[in-house]
Amino acid sequence: MSVIAAKCPGIKVHVVDLNADRIAAWNDDDLDNLPIYEPGLSDIVKEARGRNLFFSTNVDEAIDESDMIFISVNTPTKTYGVGKGMAADLKYIELCARQIARVATNDKIIVEKSTLPVRTAEALQDILSSTGSDVNFQVLSNPEFLAEGTAVQDLLNPDRVLIGGERTPEGAAAIQALHDVYAHWVPSDRILTTNVWSSELSKLTANAFLAQRVSSINSLSALCEATEADVDEVARAIGQDSRIGPKFLKSSVGFGGSCFQKDILNLVYLSKTYGLDEVAEYWHQVIKMNDYQKRRFAEKIIQSLYNTVNGKKIVLLGWAFKKDTNDTRESAAIYVADYLLSEQAQVVVYDPKVTSQQIYADLDYLNTRSEEENQRLVNVAQTTEDIFKDAHAVAVMTEWDEFREYDWKQIHEQMLKPSFVFDGRGILDIQQLEEIGMNAFAIGKG
Ligand code: UDX
Repeated sequence: MSVIAAKCPGIKVHVVDLNADRIAAWNDDDLDNLPIYEPGLSDIVKEARGRNLFFSTNVDEAIDESDMIFISVNTPTKTYGVGKGMAADLKYIELCARQIARVATNDKIIVEKSTLPVRTAEALQDILSSTGSDVNFQVLSNPEFLAEGTAVQDLLNPDRVLIGGERTPEGAAAIQALHDVYAHWVPSDRILTTNVWSSELSKLTANAFLAQRVSSINSLSALCEATEADVDEVARAIGQDSRIGPKFLKSSVGFGGSCFQKDILNLVYLSKTYGLDEVAEYWHQVIKMNDYQKRRFAEKIIQSLYNTVNGKKIVLLGWAFKKDTNDTRESAAIYVADYLLSEQAQVVVYDPKVTSQQIYADLDYLNTRSEEENQRLVNVAQTTEDIFKDAHAVAVMTEWDEFREYDWKQIHEQMLKPSFVFDGRGILDIQQLEEIGMNAFAIGKG
């Protein structure tokens, strides 16, 4: 919304949320206090805020004043009832729709921005049109393809913008209205229009294909380790094939983030619902491979440390699910840490952007052990000072640039010997670490 406001000074953008603290943070004079860390975002907010970009908790007023409403609430995986652990929980979407239906007094275009299972637009349309008033709603699907850490760049220069709408004259007019918003800065040939269902399904499909590439290369990383091949060399060799392409072939400790797992589970659930068990199983394997990769990494650490990490100090560098974000949702680090903690390791976590509160909350959420025990077994460091002292092992969980630049010779000196490094992101020079005298392991390097 901030990018839309920055690029379209003639459009008034109201961002509303029930959470007063969040809205206050978006209005904070100190732009370093914005709730989301994303390179370039504060400049965009600075440009538009107070001019045509407003943050408030007055939801009803914003609904009433608007011509177009983007619904961007979260759709987490259900934690209860039918479809538990797989289906998307649509309660926030439904609450939004009901509120809009209650408040609206003039015709509006409703844009689904949240990622939703296929045919949710239909449910939205149903709720919106059931008020009996003569207000008309047109529902569009406009999935977001930005990736975190590069969000502003991805929004300013998207590969494509996708708009799904009804194939009726009213639907076409709504599509055109949203098209005109993006056309302020996106070339028309990159704005694709489809029917609503194709648009909804494309978002799940895009994420499933991307995650599948990571799981595919990760599956081969295990084979590389067994055969003394090098996964980066394999990735480079296949990536040169223009039909395959070089992106999303970086082997890692496992993909994380708010989208991949949730969207694939959604796709799996959807396929099952339609009785397509083979389709469901095919995509489910992408998740299983990712779980295997996280577990495999933790087991590698334990096995290397002579099959016990009980009481041993292990430093985890990075907690975010990727670099340049403070988002930790589904981060591989959480699961690796949990595994090590179950083996009674003493874990020290350092991440340049994630708060200690978040780290404990992520572990507590798993419910593997009590909150007190997580407090006792885990230390969160604000800086790297002294964290390597007497550590048995260091594991890189996030590919933050600063980890490459550390003085690894000095780190080695502070650690217990023999010292171990486990690179879950393939960012360190393993040969150099070995020369220093460390036992170094990287995923997919035989
Ligand atoms: C993803 C999609 O890329 C984006 O289009 C969609 O809108 C939301 O979901 P995001 O979750 O922000 O974006 O991050 P992404 O860059 O896709 O990375 C996801 C995970 O895969 C990260 O944990 C990342 O470290 C991992 N990954 C990615 C790899 O392990 N190897 C790769 O080669 C690429």
